[in-house]
Amino acid sequence: MRTNQPQTICLSDYKVPAYLVDQVDLRFELFEDGARVHSVLSVRRNPESSGGDEPLYLHGDSLVLESVALNGTPLAAGDFDDLGDALVVSSVPEAFELQVVTWIEPQNNTRLEGLYKSSGMFCTQCEAEGFRCITFYPDRPDVMARFRTRIEADRDAYPVLLSNGNPVAKGDLEGGRHYVTWEDPFPKPAYLFALVAGDLVEKKDTFTTCSGRSIDLRMYVEPRNAQKCDFALDALKRSMRWDEDVYGREYDLDIFMIVAVDDFNMGAMENKGLNIFNSSCVLASQETATDAAFQRIEAIVAHEYFHNWSGNRVTCRDWFQLSLKEGFTVFRDAQFSADMGSPTVKRIEDATLLRTAQFAEDAGPMAHPVRPASYMEISNFYTLTIYEKGAEVVRMIHNLLGESLFRQGSDLYFQRHDGQAVTTDDFVRAMEDASGRDLSQFRLWYEQAGTPALTVTDEFDEERCVYRLTVRQSVPDTPGQTGKKPQHIPFAVGLLGRDGQPLPLLFSAGSDDAPVERVLELTEREHCFEFHGVSERPVPSLLRGFSAPVRVHYPWTREQLLFLMNHDPDGFNRWDAGQRLAVDVIQSLIVAPEAEVEPRLVDAYRSLLRNTGLDQALVAKMLQLPSEAYLIELSEQADVAAIHRAREAVLSHLATHLRDELLACYHCNSAQGDYQLTPDSVARRSLRNTALGWLLHIGDQQGLVLAQEQLRSADNMTDRLGALRALVNSDFVEERTQALEGFYQAFREDPQVVELWFSVQAASVRAGQLPQITQLLEHEAFDWKNPNKVRSVIGAFASQNLAAFHNPDGSGYAFLATQVCRLDDSNPQIASRLVTPLTRWRKFAPEYRVLMKSALERVRDKDRLSGDVYEVVHKSLAD
Ligand code: PHE
Ligand code: ZN
Repeated sequence: MRTNQPQTICLSDYKVPAYLVDQVDLRFELFEDGARVHSVLSVRRNPESSGGDEPLYLHGDSLVLESVALNGTPLAAGDFDDLGDALVVSSVPEAFELQVVTWIEPQNNTRLEGLYKSSGMFCTQCEAEGFRCITFYPDRPDVMARFRTRIEADRDAYPVLLSNGNPVAKGDLEGGRHYVTWEDPFPKPAYLFALVAGDLVEKKDTFTTCSGRSIDLRMYVEPRNAQKCDFALDALKRSMRWDEDVYGREYDLDIFMIVAVDDFNMGAMENKGLNIFNSSCVLASQETATDAAFQRIEAIVAHEYFHNWSGNRVTCRDWFQLSLKEGFTVFRDAQFSADMGSPTVKRIEDATLLRTAQFAEDAGPMAHPVRPASYMEISNFYTLTIYEKGAEVVRMIHNLLGESLFRQGSDLYFQRHDGQAVTTDDFVRAMEDASGRDLSQFRLWYEQAGTPALTVTDEFDEERCVYRLTVRQSVPDTPGQTGKKPQHIPFAVGLLGRDGQPLPLLFSAGSDDAPVERVLELTEREHCFEFHGVSERPVPSLLRGFSAPVRVHYPWTREQLLFLMNHDPDGFNRWDAGQRLAVDVIQSLIVAPEAEVEPRLVDAYRSLLRNTGLDQALVAKMLQLPSEAYLIELSEQADVAAIHRAREAVLSHLATHLRDELLACYHCNSAQGDYQLTPDSVARRSLRNTALGWLLHIGDQQGLVLAQEQLRSADNMTDRLGALRALVNSDFVEERTQALEGFYQAFREDPQVVELWFSVQAASVRAGQLPQITQLLEHEAFDWKNPNKVRSVIGAFASQNLAAFHNPDGSGYAFLATQVCRLDDSNPQIASRLVTPLTRWRKFAPEYRVLMKSALERVRDKDRLSGDVYEVVHKSLAD
């Protein structure tokens, strides 16, 4: 842990590595009281480095150095410096072998970086800079080496020993121990190294690649999870096929392994040939996983698999390029999910995440470009901007180039850079070279932080039959970045006539080329587009399909929004029109709490509930009211209590006036036949559970009976949790207490379900007030060392239960500050993520702001604050 101030690292200081490593030979001796790591590095000077005779610099963190030798000769104390966070050997030959032995204590590693223990098994997490917690090494992604790894451990306690690549040797050792040796033929950066040792069951499958090679697929889990592997293995096979079909990418090793671990800081990790997953992102069964969990698992399995090409075969030159692999891979997994399910729903979900959370990040103190220019702790930069906005940037390139040129660009990228560590600029250049398009202005998407805003105005010239759209763009200032240039923005639009028909979009009077949708390319601060042959004032449908990650301001009337909700052929914009209308209605109630709820909103929701003709998946999405988090993001100075009150009032009003329709919707979507994961059955469950939630929200007795019956009889977790959530968010205090207790008793043995159980309460304004949250922390199933438990209670409280967290007495803030300080000592990465809600203090009305700020200052003043939390807190308190 740091005691001094962490350093800022700048992209502009990048230098090629002075030394390269060709081969790494590792031998791990695993024991209960620690592990000894023997490393042999084949090192040579980098011919591309101008460094003269620079010393050899190896990173290290929390290591005990036992010995170091050069070409077999032990180094004396004066030949090297052990700086604590580095081992420096000052004079070395052109090429040599370095032997290093270190001692580490995985059993005491609560940071979950490097080698650690999770439920009795050894596992690793090396991205971004965890390998240096295992041994001294040039721990940077542009140093790529071949790894050979021998693992030695007790045979009974750790029968399964895994690492990257292919197994090449195994055998018994003295004292009941054994070993396995693995060899990975592909050079890789150290962040992709992995090791697992445990008593695990193996689930096997095979996949035949497009060239006819047979790949062994293996999933390793604790014995109690043996029944929760099928879905992930199936998703893996679908991902492998999809990547061949859509990107022409074939898997390269003979074996592909997935391991599930309970203690994990993130979702999953793409280690070469040995992906390691957070249990909650890979284990599933109908009885224990919700539809949302199944979809998340499918997407993450695909994401990690796709990294084998976008990330592993072609990797990042340095961590400023993180979005090179993450943005591209998120884009790929989003395409995959769209192909597996409902493209419109997937787009709505992605846009919602972006607009709610990434826009907030882009407007907050940690705002950074998709390719940041500096950082203190790289682990703070695994952000929505790098991942989600990065994926949007790739998506815009895809849409500007079109399917076929984009594919040629990606082929060129993989061909040109296979086996290399490259930059986002290399990616864009491959796209330019394959397509002949100039993306120089487009590159600003990688360099400028902040969410561009488009202000759209229109005029209709009845005499000339011309409709004119004027679009002004501006990119807001962000910390350290002002005076930004206009960006290249693809802006998809359509126009609807009075009868709801799409109008042809003619740029000049006589032309006959008239598509009904156009992607306008905005490159100037202000752009004016004229559409000819328009005989009546049309309703514009703007930013169709969310064609760019921007905010759009246009003075829509409620009339126009209702019209778009009913007529827009673009499913995304239909949904968006409904959201904008609901936002407008809720906002007017924030200003005037006594005002009447717009009756046309009630009518619109009524016709949605009755509309069986429309795609039910879209209807299910359209019924969701905008979240409190989104309403906060949209406001200048959020008054959380007023937002909460207004949203609840609209919800109650809708539920009261639509009670009969809700009951009808519940019954008409009730479970029929076997549980299925098709978009339609997912939509039906979503509709039914939304209806149930609304009914219980208004204390409906019949709803209560339905919820209790559903909780008893459901054959799947989606319906069971839907009923539990409805009860938890109701005022039926006794019934909800009973339901919670029964649910816990039924699922107490299953950590993934217990996490759901925690988060349903922690996210509920009714069941998750601070005293109840404090009780959850004392619960037998809560575990401070397990990130999922921490997230499901503290994380859910601070980021989903906004009215309780923002209690005007400041107790929620003080609580979070205390927990962040506590977690900072054991797991700084988790602490740093958890503190995020407080860092947004500037967004709130003054009475909240003061209290949030003082909670942050308490965190700032903590003793021995980690570098992770230091960076976030200091940046958010800076002027
Ligand atoms: N690289 C992982 C992914 O995106 C995420 C991750 C980052 C996991 C850092 C662990 C540590 O798939
Ligand atoms: Zn990733």
